[in-house]
Amino acid sequence: MSIHIAAPKGDIADKILLPGDPLRAKFIAENFLENPVLFNDIRNMFGYTGTYKGERVSVMGTGMGMPSISIYAHELITEYDVKKLIRVGTAGSLSKDVHVRELVLAQAAATTSRIIKNDWPEYDLPQIADFDLLDKAYHISKDMGVITHVGNVLSADLFYSDLFDKNIKLGTMGVKAVEMEAAALYYLAAKHQVQALSLMTISDSLVLDEDTTTEEREKTFTDMMRVGLETLIA
Ligand code: HPA
Repeated sequence: MSIHIAAPKGDIADKILLPGDPLRAKFIAENFLENPVLFNDIRNMFGYTGTYKGERVSVMGTGMGMPSISIYAHELITEYDVKKLIRVGTAGSLSKDVHVRELVLAQAAATTSRIIKNDWPEYDLPQIADFDLLDKAYHISKDMGVITHVGNVLSADLFYSDLFDKNIKLGTMGVKAVEMEAAALYYLAAKHQVQALSLMTISDSLVLDEDTTTEEREKTFTDMMRVGLETLIA
């Protein structure tokens, strides 16, 4: 057991899909994994291990924001020897070319958080995806016919932020979307030399007046989960 995960070592696969919402972890386990077994319910942060196309895979919620995902990713990597971590989440588009329901693969993540600066005050250390996972996810997603964008994202500390206008300006420099976890996940992966990638479905746009129905949202989330799982086992 670790502090926040109630599983004996060995109950978690070395490949994991990480949605923010623990109920989405349950949904993925019940709809995509064969023989899913619950390994964690501390704080209702559900985690399951099963198989996907015969390969052992886990899925677990992380909560929202960099402090929360940092706790779970740290424990998964250092206490459970997880080697491949793929986040599946939502993001707000910062670009007029990136529409709701489309997929963004975070090649890199800028951040307003201090977590990296605290350790590396003299540096602007880019937080980047694992290239092997990024390359695989890109081709899997394209082959599935999903509209896929690759590029920089912003990992913000605040959802309700006074930096709204500046965030929009970042969009004019090619930053595709804003979310709240990727930079922390990439930093921990770099620190511990494991592989990480963040996939995000655009749930809302900060620059266009776009909406999406619940069914449409479900469908695109489902595509993203499949891209994530296929990438984990590729
Ligand atoms: N901001 C931050 N995180 C998000 C957003 C947003 O607009 N949409 C989905 N996740």
